[in-house]
Amino acid sequence: MSAPFLPFTRPSIDERTIAEVGEVLRSGWITTGPKCLELEAAFSKRLGGRPVRLVNSGTASLELALRLCDIGPGDEVITTPLSWVATANVVLAVGAIPVFVDVDPASRNIDLSRVQHAITPRTRALLPVDLAGLPVDRDLLYALAQKHGLRVIEDAAQSFGAHWGDREIGSFGDLVSFSFHANKNMTTSEGGCLVLNNEDEARRFEKLRLQGVARLPDGGMEVEAWGGKANLTDVAAAIGLGQLRHIDDFNERRHELAQRYFARWDPALGFTLPPADSERHGNWHMFQPLLPARLAPRRGEFIAAMKAQGIGVGVHYPAMHLFSLFRQRGHTDGDFPVAEDIGARTITLPLFPAMTDADVDRVCDAVASVTARLS
Ligand SMILES: Cc1ncc(COP(=O)(O)O)c(C=O)c1O
Repeated sequence: MSAPFLPFTRPSIDERTIAEVGEVLRSGWITTGPKCLELEAAFSKRLGGRPVRLVNSGTASLELALRLCDIGPGDEVITTPLSWVATANVVLAVGAIPVFVDVDPASRNIDLSRVQHAITPRTRALLPVDLAGLPVDRDLLYALAQKHGLRVIEDAAQSFGAHWGDREIGSFGDLVSFSFHANKNMTTSEGGCLVLNNEDEARRFEKLRLQGVARLPDGGMEVEAWGGKANLTDVAAAIGLGQLRHIDDFNERRHELAQRYFARWDPALGFTLPPADSERHGNWHMFQPLLPARLAPRRGEFIAAMKAQGIGVGVHYPAMHLFSLFRQRGHTDGDFPVAEDIGARTITLPLFPAMTDADVDRVCDAVASVTARLS
C-alpha cells in the first residue's frame, strides 16, 4: 500500500477546539462577540499588554493599518517583491505606491542596506515581511524608520511566535500585522489581527474595521468617517483560542522537523537550503530550499514528479514585480535580480506540526530521486 498523500501544510485542530466551536454555534451568537474579546485579551497578554484587534484577514489588517496611518494617494510605501501579493495589493488598495527594494540573498527578506536609496520625500512607511517566519532585523529596521521619520507596518503574517533577540514579534515596535489564514502556524481558518501602540489607535482601528461606527453611551451611534467591514466571527475566534493553547508546542515541533531536514539533506543535490537560523529567531513557517539553477526552468515538472510520489510541494513566492499587474506599472525583468532568482527557484516542502520524522525522511528521499531523474 502506498503512503498517504503528504500535503505541504495542514492545520492541527484538536477535539476540544472542535467542541468549543460547536458551543459557539449553539450559543445563539456566532458573529463578533465574547470569543473575539477573549482572543484579543489573550494576544494582548502574550504581547506585553499592547492593544490587539482582530480582523477577518491579514490583508484587511494591513490595509486598515495603512488607512490608520492616513497613507493614501501619492504616498510611497517601501516593501519587498518577495512576498504574497497581498503585501503590495494593500498599498494599491489605499491608492498609494508600492516601492520595491530587492531582498538579501541570505535572509530572503528586504535588504535593509538598500532601503535608504529608495526613500523619497513621498515615502511614508516601511512594510517589511518576515518571509517563512524569519524576522527582518528589527534593530536596523527601527533605526532606519527613526532616522527618516517613517511609520513601520510589520507584515508579520507568517511570523507569529517568532522572536527578535528575547522579544516576541508583536510585543514591541510600531504596527504589527498577523495573519491566521489556514496555512499559518496558528489559524482561525481565515483571520488576522493588528497590534497597535495605544488605546486611541485601537479605537480608531475599531471604527475602520466596522463601518466607521462609534457607539454612544445613550445606545445610539455616530459615524464620522469611512469604515470597512472586516470584523472576525466568534466561530473563528474559538478556533484561534484553541490554537493559542498549542502554538508554542507547534513551533517547537516545526523547529525539530526543520533540523531533521538539515540533518538528512544531501548537499550533493545542489540545492540552496534556507537560512539555518542558528539564533532561533524564526518560527519555521515554511521550509524552502532553492532548486539548483539548472532545474529552475523545470520547477513544474519537479513539483509534478513529487506529487506523483504523494508529496505536496508549494511555491511561495514568485517575485511579484514580474506579475502583469506590476509590469503594467513599469516593472520588468532584472529590476530586483536577487528576488527574481529566489522566486524562480524556491519550493516549499511539507512542514507542519503533525508530521513525523519519517515523513521528513520520505520527502528527502523523494527529492533525491526526483532530482536524479530530472538531471
Ligand atoms: C506575507 C503575507 N502577507 C499578507 C498575507 C495576507 O494574509 P491573509 O491571507 O490572511 O489575508 C499573507 C498570508 O496569506 C502573507 O503570507
